[in-house]
Amino acid sequence: MGVISDLPSLLISVVGLVVYWAYDLVKCLVFTILPAPKKDISDDIILVTGAASGIGRLMAYKLAGLKPRAIVVWDLSTAENEKTKKEIEKMGVKCIAFTINLAKREAIYEVADETSKGIRALLGDETAYVTMLINNAGIVSGKKLLNSADHMMSLTMDVNATAHFWTLKSFLPAMMQHNRGHIVTIASGAGLTGAAGLVDYCASKHAAVGLTESILMEIYQQNRNVNVTLVCPYFIDTGMFKGVKSKYQWLMPIITPADMTERIVKGILTNEYQILYPRVFGLMIFLKGFFPINTYLKLISLFDAQNAMSEFEQTRKH
Ligand SMILES: NC(=O)c1ccc[n+]([C@@H]2O[C@H](COP(=O)([O-])OP(=O)(O)OC[C@H]3O[C@@H](n4cnc5c(N)ncnc54)[C@H](O)[C@@H]3O)[C@@H](O)[C@H]2O)c1
Repeated sequence: MGVISDLPSLLISVVGLVVYWAYDLVKCLVFTILPAPKKDISDDIILVTGAASGIGRLMAYKLAGLKPRAIVVWDLSTAENEKTKKEIEKMGVKCIAFTINLAKREAIYEVADETSKGIRALLGDETAYVTMLINNAGIVSGKKLLNSADHMMSLTMDVNATAHFWTLKSFLPAMMQHNRGHIVTIASGAGLTGAAGLVDYCASKHAAVGLTESILMEIYQQNRNVNVTLVCPYFIDTGMFKGVKSKYQWLMPIITPADMTERIVKGILTNEYQILYPRVFGLMIFLKGFFPINTYLKLISLFDAQNAMSEFEQTRKH
């Protein structure tokens, strides 16, 4: 009886879904051929965490080139973060830098408060708020589970995942209230698949992916105009994963920081939800859902992915 009475509305919903899917596919196809329209960020106030190095710094520079209203840079390293700030100011963009340890919840709330006050004072506008939050800072220790120090595993979870709770709780309310904003999570391909030698890192990045997808759903449920972009790259040549090699560089290249930055900024400007980069990496993730686990394990051994971390060298101090 239940199935019979539910059938008409279910059929209508399925037809609606197919029409929506077809529309999405056509849009996707059109924007593969033609450039997708890019949004104007000249009125945006952008906060980048982990802006003293790697892609955080490059994203801050690239976005500064598009002349937003202001950029806020957060990092643990005061000296390097100040360099990022100076460079942004040289480009004619207002910038404030804050030293922060993202492993500390109270520090995040405090610095978030100082950030909001700081941008209002800098712009002379009591209504100014962070309109784009880029949660980028991250760490890796690169050890197998049984060789990992407990405090490093906790720190990895705190910086790569838990910190996002506190930055989101600090900056999302104003975006929701003004019905305008953008949340960007720099997660990792390690947030979509496991990897040997990266147990804590993968756990933290899976958490970052899960929380980002859930935020997307909460925003959708509340029908707010706040965009969400989830970035899941393969290895990037920033030094964070020094020593890591790709067996078939032509097929699954280690990404250059400049390429990755270009791709992320394009995704932000076109309000893309998920960026899997390089594209072929997306195929691997698709196959993971499709293949039985033993076939997937054979697939990753074709790429020697199980040994990708064997020559990893730690270059960052934590
Ligand atoms: N490099 C890669 O191969 C790769 C691949 C996929 C995803 N990612 C992710 O991209 C992001 C950026 O990576 P990257 O390669 O540019 O790394 P990076 O080491 O060059 O930069 C990370 C920045 O985060 C800052 N940071 C670290 N701990 C912090 C803390 N407790 N509080 C505040 N700031 C802190 C560092 O000082 C540094 O400036 C990370 O989240 C990383 O996990 C990197």
